[in-house]
Amino acid sequence: MEKSEIIVNDFPRSPVAESFRLFRTNLLYLFENDESKTLCITSSNAGEGKSWVSANLAISCAQYGKKVLIIDADLRKGRQHRIFKKSNRTGLSDLLKNLRGNITAEDIDKIQEELTLKIQDTDIPNVYLLTSGPVPFNPSELLGTANIDLLLELLKKEFDIIIIDTPPAAIIADALIFATKVDHMFLVAASRKTKKEYLLTTKKSVESVGGKISGIILNEVAAGRRKEYSKSYQKYVIEK
Ligand SMILES: Nc1ncnc2c1ncn2[C@@H]1O[C@H](COP(=O)(O)OP(=O)(O)O)[C@@H](O)[C@H]1O
Ligand SMILES: [Mg+2]
Repeated sequence: MEKSEIIVNDFPRSPVAESFRLFRTNLLYLFENDESKTLCITSSNAGEGKSWVSANLAISCAQYGKKVLIIDADLRKGRQHRIFKKSNRTGLSDLLKNLRGNITAEDIDKIQEELTLKIQDTDIPNVYLLTSGPVPFNPSELLGTANIDLLLELLKKEFDIIIIDTPPAAIIADALIFATKVDHMFLVAASRKTKKEYLLTTKKSVESVGGKISGIILNEVAAGRRKEYSKSYQKYVIEK
């Protein structure tokens, strides 16, 4: 059987769930203060825990009563559908195709309809998922030319918190597309794994496009290998 990754749901009393509660508390405080709704989770490289953190953070916020949407923006290797055991027959990649060029009021109605069809609920109350969808021919161009602002505007009407999971920023530029479109960007650093220079480079890349990192999440990925979730933990810092 595949191991479950939704620790916050399966082991609500674990130290992992407690770490996420702490993160959530600070995040919600931040979001209430500046009326934010959207955040993007990225990191320099693959395997540092972006998807894992996005999923568990979403659950933690939902447990607090927030209506949360996860957008899987890793169009190449998205795996939120696996984490939540949902279909990825359609998803963000299909949606983006209709978010290009001149968009009329009529188009917006259609996009709204599409959104309701493509957003799936999960087994966890209040957690909704827009999966990455079929791998497109040109992921970066698709993301780069789509009207993400419009997409987020429409989604903000429906959800309290929107979490965007992205590909690694040091390898693929896609995460940077979101840097100026979301209210907050968080960087995941894998404990004892992520090199400082990578972290700094990623921070600089985000800043070079006008984005700002609101915080760094220190994630103990290696604990997963020991299959002892109780020993894995996260820490995070919200930058002042
Ligand atoms: N804190 C953690 N504890 C246990 N396993 C983790 C943790 N963080 C990540 N993992 C596992 O590590 C692997 C890579 O994580 P993932 O979120 O897919 O990384 P990324 O999205 O950055 O490529 C996954 O199998 C995930 O379940
Ligand atoms: Mg991922």
